Amino acid sequence: MANPVPAQRAPRSRPSPLVRYISILLLVLVVVVGLAVLIAWASVNPKKLKYTIEQGSISRYNLTNNDHLNANFHFVLRANNPNKRISIYYDWIKVTVWYEHQKLSINDVRPFHQPRRNVTYLDLNLMAIQEPLHGVVARDMRMEKSSGNVDLDVKIRSKIRLKVGVFKIHRHLNILCGTLTVPFSPSKEFERVFCDVDL
Ligand SMILES: *[C@@H]1O[C@H](CO)[C@@H](O)[C@H](O)[C@H]1NC(C)=O
Ligand SMILES: *[C@@H]1O[C@H](CO)[C@@H](O)[C@H](O)[C@H]1NC(C)=O
Repeated sequence: MANPVPAQRAPRSRPSPLVRYISILLLVLVVVVGLAVLIAWASVNPKKLKYTIEQGSISRYNLTNNDHLNANFHFVLRANNPNKRISIYYDWIKVTVWYEHQKLSINDVRPFHQPRRNVTYLDLNLMAIQEPLHGVVARDMRMEKSSGNVDLDVKIRSKIRLKVGVFKIHRHLNILCGTLTVPFSPSKEFERVFCDVDL
């Protein structure tokens, strides 16, 4: 007469052993992969790229009566890659020279590959040809010319690839070398300027 009690009722609140097994496996996997990435990163030990302007001069300067500038600019950029596991492909490099927020000249630098732990000196040559200056800018430049130096900014934009082992990481690189006191005579001393790097 009495109905037999159902032999087994699976407890619904607890996950099956298989689900638990898979969860634990996934967790272990995540931890292992995380550790591997951490160890790889630590062994790469990325260090900041450093840039300085070592030399700067202006030649063939001529500011016409109607405020058109002709001049040649020469700078030496020191690019320091202190990394022992990262080399750098500079795929394109654009250099601009500025005076009081007015762009005076623009030029490209030849693409190059910088090995690991390498210091490379780059010659930056730019030319202003009949570049019209704003009235105030021209007046200030004449005043600075008579003092023997002019304060310029050099900005460098570059597309680079960082090579780490077999991986290549694409980045945009912006370098700002602010307030260079540039003499009109190449024989005059130039004070090195440290550049800001935005990577
Ligand atoms: C500067 O340029 C103007 C116009 O081209 C020219 O007349 C003048 O002689 C030049 N001055 C110098 C010092 O080269
Ligand atoms: C840096 O690399 C360039 C080639 O990209 C090489 O000419 C130069 O000698 C290297 N400099 C040093 C200090 O290793």
